[in-house]
Amino acid sequence: MKQTLWLKVNSRKPDIEKVQVAADIIRKGGLVAFPTETVYGLGADALNYEAVLELFEAKERPLDNPPIVHVENISDVHKLADQVPPKANRLMKEFWPGPLTLVFKRSERVPSVTVAGLETIAIRMPQHAVALALIEESNCPIAAPSANLAGRPSPTSAKHVFDDLNGRIDAILDGGSTRIGVESTVLDLSVNPPQVLRPGGTPLEALRKVLGDVKLHPFVIAEKELPMEKVRSPGMKHKHYAPNAEVIVVEGAISAVIAKVKDLAEAYRLKGVKVGVLATDETMANYQVAIVRSLGSRYNLAVIAQNLFKLLREFDAEGTHVVIAEGVPTEGLGLAVMNRLRKASGYNIVKAE
Ligand code: TXA
Ligand code: MG
Repeated sequence: MKQTLWLKVNSRKPDIEKVQVAADIIRKGGLVAFPTETVYGLGADALNYEAVLELFEAKERPLDNPPIVHVENISDVHKLADQVPPKANRLMKEFWPGPLTLVFKRSERVPSVTVAGLETIAIRMPQHAVALALIEESNCPIAAPSANLAGRPSPTSAKHVFDDLNGRIDAILDGGSTRIGVESTVLDLSVNPPQVLRPGGTPLEALRKVLGDVKLHPFVIAEKELPMEKVRSPGMKHKHYAPNAEVIVVEGAISAVIAKVKDLAEAYRLKGVKVGVLATDETMANYQVAIVRSLGSRYNLAVIAQNLFKLLREFDAEGTHVVIAEGVPTEGLGLAVMNRLRKASGYNIVKAE
């Protein structure tokens, strides 16, 4: 077991000595968790084969699911990617640093483990002073999947990282709670029109404003498990974001959703099951039977995204057996929220009518 160092830093003006301690660890092939604007990442030197292999082991992540490589300047993209199409230049200019990951044809320089044997590489520039300082001081691109055990909800605080990875990693840079709360949008530019492989912090609507036509990969909007041959992003096929509790998502018009959630919660309560409801500010007063938590106002999807993973973890901490979640609109950040909720439920979706 490793001794995991906890380094508290100011999220806007990170303490340079502490960042240097963390950067030393990265340079020597170690593992450091760090905050980004989306979720916490678990970082290793992207060009160090052994370090990236250890990264997979620490998370218990399947070796066929590559991490995102994080950079702090655009010239590194040209070192990691073989081709940078004009569309990518427009997107980087518009959205970086920020929650948008772009998939490029990869350079031979990148170790195969970093890209899980694929011919492509996923790259982003995070919009967070701690992340950028860490990459700069480490003097290398940093491979960083979300800093959770594989399959668990992504961490939005240092405490979440600690709960999953204490003793498995060398250090945690604690820069407080993350601002966006869901992961970056993953966009594939190798197809025409470009295709969103994972909805996230950069809304589809914003991408369409810049690129015109952008499609959603069928997995993104799936309401059930799709056949594996359709997989383009390896992350699509693995179990994701799931708390220990069983999750049920109830979708439909809001009044019908409330009625359905009440029915289901009552049925479980009568069976003696510890049931929780994941509601919103406007609806939570309707539910008396259960542990009720609000994601925030239905009219503020940014706040809902911020709270999602934290609340899923809280239900687990309370020993909830079943979580019944209200669906939210799939516009803006709502598309990412619903994608995570549906996956967390294993596509256990109930349509309320
Ligand atoms: O916001 C984020 O993206 C966070 C923070 C830490 O930056 N990172 C993150 O990494 O969510 P991770 O590893 O948990 O998710 C990476 C996603 C996976 O779904 C993976 O399959 C996909 O990106 N991916 C990575 N490389 C890819 C590639 N070459 N082609 C297609 N998808 C790829
Ligand atoms: Mg992840």
